[in-house]
Amino acid sequence: MTDATPRRIRLDALAFGGDYNPDQWPEAVWHEDVRLMREAGVNLVSLPVFSWPQLETAPGVYEWAWLDRVIDVLWAGGIRIDLATATATPPAWLVRAHPEMLPWDADGRRLEFGSRQAYCPSSPVWREHVARMARAMAERYGQHPAVVLWHVSNEYGDHVARCWCPESAAHFRRWLQDRYGDLDGLNEAWGVNVWGQRYTAWEQVEPPRRATGPVNPTQLLDFERFGSDALLELFRIEVDVLREVTPELPVTTNFMSLFRELDYWRFAEHEDLVTDDAYPDPADPRAHVPAALNYGLMRSLKGGQPWLLLEQAASAVSWRDVNVPKAPGRMRIDSLQAVAHGSDGAMFFQWRQARYGQEKFHSAMLGHRGESSRTFRETAALGRELKRLAAVRGARVRSRVALVVDWDSWWATSATESLPSQRLGWLQQARDWHAALHALGHAVDTVRATGPFDRYDLVVVPNLYVTDDAQAAALEAYVAAGGTLAVGPFSGVVDRTEKVHPGGAPGPLRDLLGVEVDEPWPVPDGSAEQIELGGGRYDAPVWTEWIEARDDASVVAAFTTGVLDGRPAITRREHGSGRAWYLGAVTAPDGLVALMRRVLADAGLPARERTDPDLETVTRADEHTDYTFVLNHGARAVTVDVPDGATDLLGDGPVRAQLVVPPLGVAVLATPRGAEPPFITLSDTTE
Ligand code: GLA
Repeated sequence: MTDATPRRIRLDALAFGGDYNPDQWPEAVWHEDVRLMREAGVNLVSLPVFSWPQLETAPGVYEWAWLDRVIDVLWAGGIRIDLATATATPPAWLVRAHPEMLPWDADGRRLEFGSRQAYCPSSPVWREHVARMARAMAERYGQHPAVVLWHVSNEYGDHVARCWCPESAAHFRRWLQDRYGDLDGLNEAWGVNVWGQRYTAWEQVEPPRRATGPVNPTQLLDFERFGSDALLELFRIEVDVLREVTPELPVTTNFMSLFRELDYWRFAEHEDLVTDDAYPDPADPRAHVPAALNYGLMRSLKGGQPWLLLEQAASAVSWRDVNVPKAPGRMRIDSLQAVAHGSDGAMFFQWRQARYGQEKFHSAMLGHRGESSRTFRETAALGRELKRLAAVRGARVRSRVALVVDWDSWWATSATESLPSQRLGWLQQARDWHAALHALGHAVDTVRATGPFDRYDLVVVPNLYVTDDAQAAALEAYVAAGGTLAVGPFSGVVDRTEKVHPGGAPGPLRDLLGVEVDEPWPVPDGSAEQIELGGGRYDAPVWTEWIEARDDASVVAAFTTGVLDGRPAITRREHGSGRAWYLGAVTAPDGLVALMRRVLADAGLPARERTDPDLETVTRADEHTDYTFVLNHGARAVTVDVPDGATDLLGDGPVRAQLVVPPLGVAVLATPRGAEPPFITLSDTTE
């Protein structure tokens, strides 16, 4: 069952706070914590994420008293709770009683206890205990007025997204039986006549382990689907319990941005609020660009409704090889970027920096120096600013462009070695296409390949390797009704069982796009072909294609080098009231910007004449007001032209026609809601 009307979180402000681990501290510290939380403006904390062993010290022996007191102290301080079901990691006593619940890696090695997530997602023992713990938590605390949100488990798949143990193998077989019915169905789906892999009994079927050579690609793809589904089932076990005991409380589980291992479209169907953990690397001056795509996904997972940034670092993390702190102002703009993209708040991992354990060097709102720490001053200042932005709570991002995210295509192009090239990265393509639209001034939503597309003037599909008839029909209907579509290389290649569509790529998209791909023509490492588009020449590294354009498609750009010299590289076909573009190459970032500029114009959408990847503008709107966030992620001031009569919610009031945004500066411009969202451009006076 999915939830059409999500439950809302009972919070009358933008959420601000973080993970709280009071069981790492003596009780006296809790009171100090609440005092400082109040000083910083914290209104929501997440706990007790990893505390199962402290809450159930032996089978059936619960130690609720400490958590009772923590919750009461928080409540007395006016702080609300995102209550974790505490099932992120099993207690040692459970693991030792049931060692079979530990996960195995692909080489058949059992992963030991000593970190976290030490469980096989398919383990019946784990599932039974998880349901029991979720029920115990819900019955104990579900009615407490401080509890406003359920935090189920923690970052599913972060450490163990796939398991190869015997229990998982049995579960995989059941999953395949559900999907294909019988062995004939499986043999047909997996195309077993290639390399002689016919199965004559279910017991012969195994998860794809390390084998003598390249493994059957459909087996690999099905194992990815299964792995995502196994964790989804685990999530749903807890969701069902929580819905039964506390039907009025909203449920979430924290996502990990654009995360390969889990199909978040399907996860989001079973939660009320999408939450995300975002850790853009401060060492990467362009980290805000993929972050914008991640946030575009988060707001799109439930059709544009606000989501919540549940974790970010106040400064450095402790899990990269080199953990660079956030320079003054960086945490602020990163937080406000998430709010710009639809997050109803900004939360952190974690409130108080640990003194011991794996995360003692991970920054926190309250650093090792306590109230004197820079992170405390900066996060408290952010808390004050979020109050000034109260009006944006609930407002929705106005985006007219959507990018198709399809986990099947991502998995299928990354799970197998048996491809024309290993270099066509699904995620890189998605990021590159997004980056071009971002540079041209657009905040990009994401969407499934089956839509809904109706609120978008432009839909881009960087890669849809796996394409079925329903997706093709939805894309065709969108274009027929007047939409503009742009499809990237190696799309429409195979069906859901990874069989090449009859006649080759782009398969069911062939008529819509008006092209046939004769052969993909990957480019050797370190070299590039070239494309000429509108007088400019652009590199095509990684991938090109031998394309035959049909008579009803026009060739917009051609290759100018190599074997494909003179052949079509980019095509456009009019269909119904719309138009469909095809790009038969991977192009360098400047080429994608040039292409997207034309595609945007074709869709009737504006594009920035001059681009600056550090400038980002996003508009959230409610019924009456547009709130346009202008963010300067760079180290130099930018000057932008802004609508007349705008008021900067973070500034001193009305803004004149030009706005100078300092390095790492943010303005939030309130204007009466327009027919179109304000389109902010770099001013001519910017150097
Ligand atoms: C993840 C986890 C947190 C913490 C942070 C550190 O997001 O959910 O428990 O480990 O990473 O960055």
